[in-house]
Amino acid sequence: MDHFDYRDGVLHAEDIPLSRIAEEIGTPVYVYSRATLERHAQVFAEALKDIPRKHIAFAIKCNPNLGVLRVLARQGYGADVVSGGELERALAAGMAPQDIVFSGVGKTRAELAQGLDRGIGQFNIEHEPEGVALADIAARKDMTAPAVLRVNPDVDAGTHAKISTGKAENKFGVGIDVAPEIFGRLAALPGLQMRGIALHIGSQLTSLDPLEAAFERVGRLVADLRAAGHSITHVDLGGGLGVPYRPDDNPPSPADYGAMVARVTKDWDVTLMFEPGRVIAGNTGVLLTEVLWVKPGATNPFVIVDAAMNDLARPALYDAYHDFVAVTPTGDKMTASIVGPVCETGDTFARDRVIDKVESGDLAVFRTAGAYGATMASTYNSRSLVPEVLVDGDRYITVADRIAAGTIMAAERVPDWID
Ligand code: LLP
Repeated sequence: MDHFDYRDGVLHAEDIPLSRIAEEIGTPVYVYSRATLERHAQVFAEALKDIPRKHIAFAIKCNPNLGVLRVLARQGYGADVVSGGELERALAAGMAPQDIVFSGVGKTRAELAQGLDRGIGQFNIEHEPEGVALADIAARKDMTAPAVLRVNPDVDAGTHAKISTGKAENKFGVGIDVAPEIFGRLAALPGLQMRGIALHIGSQLTSLDPLEAAFERVGRLVADLRAAGHSITHVDLGGGLGVPYRPDDNPPSPADYGAMVARVTKDWDVTLMFEPGRVIAGNTGVLLTEVLWVKPGATNPFVIVDAAMNDLARPALYDAYHDFVAVTPTGDKMTASIVGPVCETGDTFARDRVIDKVESGDLAVFRTAGAYGATMASTYNSRSLVPEVLVDGDRYITVADRIAAGTIMAAERVPDWID
């Protein structure tokens, strides 16, 4: 459910017609709905009501906009961060340091020290040398780092290969078979307080089965670690719940997920941590774009829009599907390929798809663009960095400016020794 609806034939974000945003801010532009974001945050938290001790850390990589993060901070969400930059964003948005979890497969020593200095709540250790480095840095600072060990449970998440993270061949975590010995060695180090286990098997999961299989493996590991004398107080279950991208997609609901988690973990006696991203932010945003031209093609026409792969990379990267609808549909349909202006054939949002009939000058949106949208934007082809707008009822504000190509160029220089 979201708050992007047609009123009097015009697509609105809450009470704001998208045509007004296009006129005042220009296109392309990401538009987020605060009410949708809050609703999703509440629905996810509500789905976990049967979990006695829990902490939800929004995976801010999927939408690190400060305005978005502030809304989630107000909902009691912490942050899952994967870089020093994300850590500073979470703090700037008002998230408490102890509510921040630091994941990421390649944290630098400087980032580990930054996390300690900022007093974050948990480090998710990816492999033994990282844990040793963290222990060393913490001990020198006379500190103790709260940490969990990320395991790779070797399950097939059944998602796109580029966003699957829990197979043995993926780069994440340590093998679950070697986890007990690594955990034991790390737990013996001064400077580290090894308190549990983390896992994350992939993103856009459309079945609960791989999650359940992975959680069961982790449950057995927790029992083994306790049998070996370790105190296990925290398990971080990661994120990964999928969202509907196509009108007829039907991924498991947060309530189904919560019920499964409650059932599988009922005897674990730990604080459970969650790192949802897409399921919170995905449906809270659209990418608003203008149709530049409709050009005849060999089979079907090309609808050339002013958004491109640099603004929304998912279709080019993962062949991802984003629904495309007109802001003021006529009711007529056309079969077309939707492409952007970038000079690559990969700059294609849809091939031979039946869409609302549009013509030059019409406005349209790509839906479900609130997660992994603006955050993955670039300035490729010296295009501007796409702006972001947050709507709240009958008001809206630009929460990220359009960064003009000229501003990027101003940060470059020509060496004076080239004549
Ligand atoms: N926790 C960890 C350790 C992660 O690596 C991720 C996502 C999440 C949580 C959040 O997963 P979510 O709940 O959003 O599925 N750019 C790709 C998705 C990359 C996901 C990376 N990790 C896409 O556009 O599909």
